[in-house]
Amino acid sequence: MKTIKELLRGVDIIAQAGDLEKGIAGVTNDSRKVEKDWCFIAIQGYQQDGLKYVDEAINRGANSVVSQHKLQKDYPGLSWAQVKNDRLAFSKMTANLYDRVADHFYNIGVTGTNGKTTITALLSAILNREAKTAQIGTLGMRCGETTWGASLTTPEAPDIFRFLSETRAQGAKNLVMEVSSVSLCLYRVEDIKFSQAIFTSFSGDHLDFHKTMEDYLASKILLFKKLQEDDWAVINIDDPTAPIVIQQLNCKYLTYGFSTEADIRPLKYKFSIGGPYSIEALLMTPKGQLEIKSHLIGRINLSNLMAAVTSAMIKGISFNDIAAAIAEFKPVKGRLDFAYKGDFSVLIDYAHTDKALEALLQSLREMVTGRLIAVFGAGGNRDKTKRPRMGETVSQNADFLVVTSDNPRQEDPSAIIREIQAGFAPGFKNFIIEIDRETAIEKALDMAVKGDLVVVAGKGHENYQIFKDRTIHFDDYEVVQKLMEKRKKENHA
Ligand SMILES: Nc1ncnc2c1ncn2[C@@H]1O[C@H](COP(=O)(O)OP(=O)(O)O)[C@@H](O)[C@H]1O
Ligand SMILES: [Mg+2]
Repeated sequence: MKTIKELLRGVDIIAQAGDLEKGIAGVTNDSRKVEKDWCFIAIQGYQQDGLKYVDEAINRGANSVVSQHKLQKDYPGLSWAQVKNDRLAFSKMTANLYDRVADHFYNIGVTGTNGKTTITALLSAILNREAKTAQIGTLGMRCGETTWGASLTTPEAPDIFRFLSETRAQGAKNLVMEVSSVSLCLYRVEDIKFSQAIFTSFSGDHLDFHKTMEDYLASKILLFKKLQEDDWAVINIDDPTAPIVIQQLNCKYLTYGFSTEADIRPLKYKFSIGGPYSIEALLMTPKGQLEIKSHLIGRINLSNLMAAVTSAMIKGISFNDIAAAIAEFKPVKGRLDFAYKGDFSVLIDYAHTDKALEALLQSLREMVTGRLIAVFGAGGNRDKTKRPRMGETVSQNADFLVVTSDNPRQEDPSAIIREIQAGFAPGFKNFIIEIDRETAIEKALDMAVKGDLVVVAGKGHENYQIFKDRTIHFDDYEVVQKLMEKRKKENHA
């Protein structure tokens, strides 16, 4: 067992008390997780003050406490360290506890408002051809056969390091992880040294946490500031904020995108709904041309594919391996994924911000022959400013809208819908309102005719709907399948 003193290596300590040579069995910031001989880090949170839980932690067996502020009372004999920054200490102590396991990995961080999950999954699939690759993000923590569910896009440091220790023992050498801007502000990945960071896009999501766009962008850039001379940044040059990120870099970088300035860009490309592959493209790269065929759908995914190609190329993966992994890769559940293909098609997608919806609908527009019918809503209790923007974008980019509920949480679903409607142009008529999501999907399907594409947006892989007083099981895929079965029966009757 390591001692508290050993765990505190590299941490700025202001004051200390008690015996720091005690052995520590674990480190946590959650008093409910404390076990015998653990160290409890009482973090001053945004909603919770960890100092209030010191008693509980000690009752559960904590033999030491670390905090940024003085404890609320005296605990005779308790081993305690006061640190300059509690979150930094949490990351550092956890990293030390797990023998700085992340230093043994080639680490790639993916950040940006959209595309993180898709790029992370795609890139892991490519890198797996070279060496076992661990993947962390919205889909959980995965490596080979091992999958751990995740509740956060970027988990807390102890979960990350415990997972890496396990996968390292299984031979994993690479890590590809989604790095949310929130996690950067909270120093969750402070002790992971990234060799590459990918910047996908930037728009105003999470404005409930980051009060201003500047603050949000600054927090995303934190990941790029960590890169050193020999590291690489991979930048989506099509994003208007790309120059700001590039300006901050102290490392090498390559850009990707549709722009003629991009280092990696398509010379030719074709999108389709019918064929075996939905994207076929010929890419130009500094290492020559690369032809790719993919089951992924639409322009935004060609952008994601280019991000993965750029990163894999930097890592030294051969073009053959890159192309083969891409051809095999199937859409991530809930990310531009077909739930039904027939005369008309139904596609499920996780887009839940105005920018993502815009990119999604514009991507789909290039492939549909008939009408584009969008079923969508906006979440309750989260960023409200995006609601009218979502209404505006969807009304401008789809042919018909079915406005419905998407996790209303504590709010009144009709009120959320009214805020979405506020973004419609005066006199706009091509929509209906249906609060019940299942009925909304049914109405969209009833409307669809040959050549149409129904896109059910917002929930993606989620299998629940959160209301004020309850959470119910709800899965867009299941609903579409059930409704299509019902139609089949009715047509045969
Ligand atoms: N490169 C992109 N640019 C814009 N929108 C994208 C991009 N990639 C994906 N999206 C949209 O964002 C949604 C979420 O994609 P995902 O890969 O889960 O991103 P994230 O993990 O960043 O939330 C997708 O369903 C799609 O509609
Ligand atoms: Mg994600």
